[in-house]
Amino acid sequence: MQIAIIGAGNVGRALASSLTRAGHDVTVSAEHPEHATEAAARTGARAVSSNAEAVRAADLVVLAVPATALDKIATEIGRDVAGKVVVDVANRPTPSPDGTPTSIAEELQAKLPQAKVVKAFNTAFASRQAEPTVGGIPSDGFVAADDPDAKQTILDVVESIGFRPVDAGSLAAARTLEGMAWLNIQRNMAGGSWQDAWVLVGPDTIESTGADRRN
Ligand SMILES: NC(=O)c1ccc[n+]([C@@H]2O[C@H](COP(=O)([O-])OP(=O)(O)OC[C@H]3O[C@@H](n4cnc5c(N)ncnc54)[C@H](OP(=O)(O)O)[C@@H]3O)[C@@H](O)[C@H]2O)c1
Repeated sequence: MQIAIIGAGNVGRALASSLTRAGHDVTVSAEHPEHATEAAARTGARAVSSNAEAVRAADLVVLAVPATALDKIATEIGRDVAGKVVVDVANRPTPSPDGTPTSIAEELQAKLPQAKVVKAFNTAFASRQAEPTVGGIPSDGFVAADDPDAKQTILDVVESIGFRPVDAGSLAAARTLEGMAWLNIQRNMAGGSWQDAWVLVGPDTIESTGADRRN
């Protein structure tokens, strides 16, 4: 699949690496084009000099940027992503003290009404996006979206890089996914390896991974 990643930081590089390894054709852009060039050299992706150029040839677009950059980028690529799948990976810089009345993903969908916005990857640290398997167990790749075809596309992409795909529901479920990400971020801020990941466990999940989780 032809995938554009906007952003060449921790997440952009991690996903460029795992998506390229899975056989996808990946282009990367960044605010500073030299950062995209560096990321491409490290991951096997192809650097392009603008977000618009990255998006034009892509089947799907991953926005691996801070939530604060989404307004500007939505204005820049809005027309070019009409009808395309746009993946939002973002978490808020600080959690809302009032809970999550809405999500970054739903706000992004409002900014990009002609795109099919999907929430994915945000509950996994960049370390796990690069390598989703921990001790032989695939970590969970939660995917939330309103458009069923877009959701299935990203469930397949998530699986292609080694996550166990988990359908999290409609785009509004991004509120929960953003909360889950914060729980893990706060745990790791208190002292962690920034490498642990979410895994749902139950009879069905054990069967689907073939893993023996008793050990
Ligand atoms: N780090 C994690 O483990 C993790 C895990 C899950 C989700 N997330 C979420 O993923 C997003 C990215 O996190 P990160 O850790 O990768 O951040 P980061 O290392 O700071 O990288 C951010 C990237 O966004 C690029 N960028 C900013 N504005 C841009 C614009 N207008 N056009 C193109 N590129 C632009 C920056 O470009 P330059 O390099 O040129 O400055 C940079 O490459 C955030 O929303 C975060 O909440 C992070």
